[in-house]
Amino acid sequence: MSRTVLVVGGGGREHALCLALSFSASIDKIHITPGNAGTQYFGTNHDVSASDILGLVQLSKELDVDFVVVGPEAPLCDGLADQLLQAGIPCFGPQQVHAELEGSKLFAKKTMDAAGVPTADYDVLDASSNIDACLDARSQEPWVIKRDVLAGGKGVVVTSVRAEAVAFIQQSIETDGHVLLERFLPGEEASMLVVMDKSGYVCLPPSQDHKRVFDEDKGPNTGGMGAYCPAPVVTEGIHRKTIERIVEPMFSHLSSMDLPYRGVLYVGLMIDEHGDPYVVEFNVRFGDPECQVTLPLIDGDVGELLYSAAKDQLSAIEVSFHSQHALTVVLASEGYPQSAIKGRIISGAEHGNDTHETWISHAGTMRDEEGNLVSSGGRVLSVTSIAETLQKAHDLSYQRLQHIRLEGSHHRTDIGHRAL
Ligand code: AMP
Ligand code: GLY
Repeated sequence: MSRTVLVVGGGGREHALCLALSFSASIDKIHITPGNAGTQYFGTNHDVSASDILGLVQLSKELDVDFVVVGPEAPLCDGLADQLLQAGIPCFGPQQVHAELEGSKLFAKKTMDAAGVPTADYDVLDASSNIDACLDARSQEPWVIKRDVLAGGKGVVVTSVRAEAVAFIQQSIETDGHVLLERFLPGEEASMLVVMDKSGYVCLPPSQDHKRVFDEDKGPNTGGMGAYCPAPVVTEGIHRKTIERIVEPMFSHLSSMDLPYRGVLYVGLMIDEHGDPYVVEFNVRFGDPECQVTLPLIDGDVGELLYSAAKDQLSAIEVSFHSQHALTVVLASEGYPQSAIKGRIISGAEHGNDTHETWISHAGTMRDEEGNLVSSGGRVLSVTSIAETLQKAHDLSYQRLQHIRLEGSHHRTDIGHRAL
């Protein structure tokens, strides 16, 4: 087999996808759009934006690709998979009707109710609601308030400060018409990525992200400051419960629909003190940076896995995993996540220094006119290592990070702390 693939997106996740695809015997050519300064080492970067649906379909046709792998959620919510399928091009990434699982928190809740999947119970508040009474009814624990739109990680507030809760609720109702108030779930979070199509599913090893910007999980939420895989918080027993209570019912529900789910279902878990898993969120794509630590643990042809899911042929392939550990640390620009300072020169991140043990995934990087590597986003790059132990992967990533220079940049120094 020698397939041509187009990867849509330009973050660390897409760099990780390109790296895994470059090791896949089934993949001959990789195209990426828009890509970043790192993805160019694996194929050809194009300049069609990930939000230009018609442009992406046109590009896929021009390149005569065998399939498309969609990194981010926004084009899926805008119907990219539907348009590609209409043009006869297989797509790894679900159609619009399923992308709503990420695009609308209320849709996700209703789907979980229909499928009998455990999640926090919730109220829907609108202009006619008595906000104070609703907050009183859930005043024993912090309030969890969720906007019902794609908000790029800024749509959720968890707070014990009443004034903050009221302000966020009022603001959300004003802009969106309604908002969700849900029960606070105490526990530890983990991410389970499940590759799924009509014929079956494959659970990838569970991982753990670090969403807060500062050490000890302090400061505002970010897209993710680092991750490791596998996450021991998901014990064998919890893994089994997650499959029985969450993955199986979701698979039954989704595979019984007219349009099957094809892609990866990201299950954001909260595991309570009894070891019972609840769904905090669904995403319809690989997590970033979870992707960077999950793909390297797949023992085999990742291109074949993704293509099979795009073709509803997952049940026909065997997937196994390396018994190793991967850990990634994100390097962020000064000011991230509030307002990132961009355009600064990055040194020490040369591709030639990457090894099979430790490598860099570019995210917010580009080349300036002189060919310098410069920062172009909040999360600039991440350093990933794979080793026999989590401690070794941790040490390798932090050692490599020491050689990278970007003025004002910051990173967490405690990635993996819950497991180490
Ligand atoms: P979400 O976008 O739904 O994943 O929410 C963002 C973050 O808010 C999650 O990663 C959790 O840390 C936190 N969160 C969301 N829902 C809850 C909940 N019901 N209980 C506790 N924390 C939550
Ligand atoms: N790392 C969290 C996410 O990708 O949503």
